[in-house]
Amino acid sequence: MRTVVAGNWKMNETAGQASELVAAFAPRVGEVLAGANGGIDVVVAPPFTALAAVAPALARTGRVALGAQNMHWDLSGAFTGEISAPMLLDLGVTYVILGHSERRQYFGETDEAVNRKVKTALAQGLHPIVAVGETLGEREDGRTRDRVVTQTRAALDGLNEDEIARLILAYEPIWAIGTGKNCDAAEADGVMAGIRACHGALRDVPILYGGSVKPDNFAAYLAQPNVDGGLIGGASLDANAFVELVRLAAAAASG
Ligand code: PGA
Repeated sequence: MRTVVAGNWKMNETAGQASELVAAFAPRVGEVLAGANGGIDVVVAPPFTALAAVAPALARTGRVALGAQNMHWDLSGAFTGEISAPMLLDLGVTYVILGHSERRQYFGETDEAVNRKVKTALAQGLHPIVAVGETLGEREDGRTRDRVVTQTRAALDGLNEDEIARLILAYEPIWAIGTGKNCDAAEADGVMAGIRACHGALRDVPILYGGSVKPDNFAAYLAQPNVDGGLIGGASLDANAFVELVRLAAAAASG
């Protein structure tokens, strides 16, 4: 199983700031990965407006892949304000986060829209990182498992086994995102086992944990059997923290 560390920069960093951030962590991440036994993929997803600026520096490391935070399901057309898969590919993007809870919550993204995007991303050769997770209310009502299973099944709808095997999933309890409130690692693992059980073809699909991941808690998540990496927001904007997260993942991947 590959271990994946993905930084989601959200709506942060101008193109200039993004270049400075990459300069601060990319060579150090390259060193960590050069000394690792392999089996670890590192991705950063800057805002669209910074993709072109950071692509050359990331490509030079040869070890940090470029991701986008969203994408439209159509390849071109009258969709004002949207970005297509060919536009991303043209900039060297290889991963795309789909169905992040902030997209679902603030921009009305439905399970069906996420499924359409997943199909397009796969057809275009992008690696989708598909995010699922429950709200605090759903958790308190004991509906966590139901919610994430429904979201996962909807995202996989109509995909064949080979396509499912090319996905990366991320479990992000919404109440733990950006709040500093951690989901207990064993509890997260239980939910992630439920996600994996949604389809046999998910057996070797990396499932990432996301939600206030920091250098001081990442190892506890990585030690869980169903946690194959992290989708990291806030801490990925701090070069020192991001390098440390990659180091922890490399240690877990080779241990
Ligand atoms: P956070 O964000 O690490 O800042 O909680 C995670 C995410 O939303 O992907």
